[in-house]
Amino acid sequence: RWRPRAAGRQDWASWPHYDAAGNGFPGYWYPVTWGSHIDGTPRAFTICGERLVLLRDGGKVYALHDRCPHRGVPLSEGDQQFPGTISCPYHGWTYRLSDGKLCAVITDGPDSPICGKVTVRTYPVAERLGLVWVYVPIADERPHPIDEQLPEELVGNRFVVGGRIEPRRGNWRFACENGFDEGHAKYLHRTSLWRLFKPMPTWNVTSVIGDGRWIYRVQDEVHWEADFPGVGRWSNQRWWKRRPPKETFNIGNTGKPKKIDPTIAAQEFAGFASLSMPGVLRIVYPKFIHYEFYVPVDQGEHRYVGLMVNFTAGWKALGFYLKYLGGVRWLFHGQFSGQDAWMVEVTDAPPERLYRPDVSLTAWRNLAEREFTAKLEVHGCASS
Ligand code: FES
Repeated sequence: RWRPRAAGRQDWASWPHYDAAGNGFPGYWYPVTWGSHIDGTPRAFTICGERLVLLRDGGKVYALHDRCPHRGVPLSEGDQQFPGTISCPYHGWTYRLSDGKLCAVITDGPDSPICGKVTVRTYPVAERLGLVWVYVPIADERPHPIDEQLPEELVGNRFVVGGRIEPRRGNWRFACENGFDEGHAKYLHRTSLWRLFKPMPTWNVTSVIGDGRWIYRVQDEVHWEADFPGVGRWSNQRWWKRRPPKETFNIGNTGKPKKIDPTIAAQEFAGFASLSMPGVLRIVYPKFIHYEFYVPVDQGEHRYVGLMVNFTAGWKALGFYLKYLGGVRWLFHGQFSGQDAWMVEVTDAPPERLYRPDVSLTAWRNLAEREFTAKLEVHGCASS
């Protein structure tokens, strides 16, 4: 359980909304699953603590609260008896997908007086990047356009996507903090096979800067080994090549740039790693961008949506898919990311004792706190 911070024991700022957001922040679009996984069979998901049933009808995906108001049976256990509806399996109460209104009660005849008097909550749905997205509203607000929330470079550019979605144990906030955590990349991942291709330094002098929407980790200094007084030397060089790598690709940093994909080069990324609300990590490589969406399920679980995006199309996409399916999927979305999943699962809730590189964590918490507070103010809700 995420325990409240003890008053006066926190050296940094406090984050009351963030601390309270065990089930995630409402007021955002969340990716739920691949669009190809949703058909006419109702499927159950939990997002931000809300139980949802998703199904596709007439090519469009609908999301409803997954609970029949009659006796509480999940609608995801039901099926479609009439086009544009979903029927509960217990007594045949049948709801319109478009607005959740009870429109027929199979076991009470065509003139059932309860029709039109019961409604199941519906949720806005969109499809982007091959994924189904659901908007979890604050009260009864209307959703903002999803394109305003997607990473800017994923709107209006052509690209192909490889990815992995899986339920993972651990609160979504631990996943966000792990993804952007400065220190773990150097130490936890030292044994990952991905490092055969992507060397990582021993330590950095790091700063975190923001552009209002994203925060970026910027490596001001990069050290490939360090002498620890009285202890010895520690190096994080590639074990198969015992010298610092020549390439020092870091968007926004000094260093000799590698050849960069023109769409990526056209963006204004201030750093290699960036994070934005409601929990989207972006890691920029010269030829592709890796995204991780940490989708809140409940206090103890989140959905990991990892995407590798290559800004190409047509036959050129074939090379990307071969590379993705031939290695990246297993190395990065599997073994490397599995190390993260392990830590997210075993990290304990505050209290905590932070150290210098944790400026990345506190910057993220500050961003979340600031953005959600502003969102509440827009909706006229109390901010504390
Ligand atoms: Fe759903 Fe009775 S519980 S129809």
